[in-house]
Amino acid sequence: MDEKDLKIDTNANNVEQSIDSILRPKSWQEYVGQQKVKDNLRIIIDAAKKREESCDHLLFFGSAGLGKTTLANLVASELGANLKVTSGPALEKMGDLAAVLTNLSAHDVLFIDEIHRINRLIEEVLYPAMESRKLHLIVGKGPGARTLSLDLPPFTMIAATTRPNLLSTPLRSRFGASFKLDYYEKQDIEDILRRNASTLNLEIDEEALKIIANASRRTPRVANRLLRRVRDYAQVHDYLKIDKESAEKTLKLLEVDDLGLDPHDRRILETIIEKFNGGPVGLSSLAAALNEDKSVIEEVYEPYLISLGLLNRTPAGRKATDLGHEHIKKQKNLF
Ligand SMILES: Nc1ncnc2c1ncn2[C@@H]1O[C@H](COP(=O)(O)OP(=O)(O)O)[C@@H](O)[C@H]1O
Ligand SMILES: [Mg+2]
Repeated sequence: MDEKDLKIDTNANNVEQSIDSILRPKSWQEYVGQQKVKDNLRIIIDAAKKREESCDHLLFFGSAGLGKTTLANLVASELGANLKVTSGPALEKMGDLAAVLTNLSAHDVLFIDEIHRINRLIEEVLYPAMESRKLHLIVGKGPGARTLSLDLPPFTMIAATTRPNLLSTPLRSRFGASFKLDYYEKQDIEDILRRNASTLNLEIDEEALKIIANASRRTPRVANRLLRRVRDYAQVHDYLKIDKESAEKTLKLLEVDDLGLDPHDRRILETIIEKFNGGPVGLSSLAAALNEDKSVIEEVYEPYLISLGLLNRTPAGRKATDLGHEHIKKQKNLF
């Protein structure tokens, strides 16, 4: 079979990168799901536009890959505003934040990704900036130090985080509204896959679509990643279109099970079950046994395992649920 059958342009370089940007929703309508969040944002955006003012500062939180960055981009474009992007870890020194803030023009949107990783001292500079558009800078050292106060243009800050509980109360209270992005409905993931398959000119049948959607952890980024893997598999194995068989074989090869768990996820459950008798086990002991970072376990793996009801966080530690035990037993025979 030649490429034409799958109608894929194989000439594209840095394929993954370019596919990512092709698939990123560019309009409000293309942003599937999260209807409540969108409805609320719509009102905030339209009101700000009507008053010709900057929109309130917004906080988006939720697991990785659920669309926080995409949404920030869309809000800025709905506001007709320029988006300036930075992140908590990038703002290392006071001067970094001062430079970002003093470079803002009226009605710009400043997007700060991973806001929970911002340095606490720098964070304090944000308070007056968010509240009264003032930048207070300390110039000089010791008894001769002075505070310089600069006026900032009206701007909107949008911050994103996977760990809202790590934000300080004063910071959190300075956002006019905060929105939680939830895992998507299966139907929404199917819609995203259907749309993206068509954008990539892929022929895919409904059965395959459902199989990929099931394994996508109800997360658009994962859905897109799996779609690319299935597309590769189908192309290499000369499938004319993506069907049940090619989808299932790809997932099997990736060792992704029907709940979307990969070997890393299963290893967490297996470790709790096999080494700690099903738990409860403290996060530190679990992290040590897995040779994994505590925050990675908490932020990357646990939320989805908990949402599936396979794992519980109890006061005494992590515990595999009955469902968790069953799932691991079932998978043992498959991979
Ligand atoms: N609501 C959505 N509809 C369609 N695609 C989405 C949606 N949200 C996210 N995506 C896709 O998932 C990818 C990851 O989204 P992103 O905004 O980077 O997530 P986050 O910033 O929360 O980690 C994007 O490239 C985009 O293609
Ligand atoms: Mg992001």
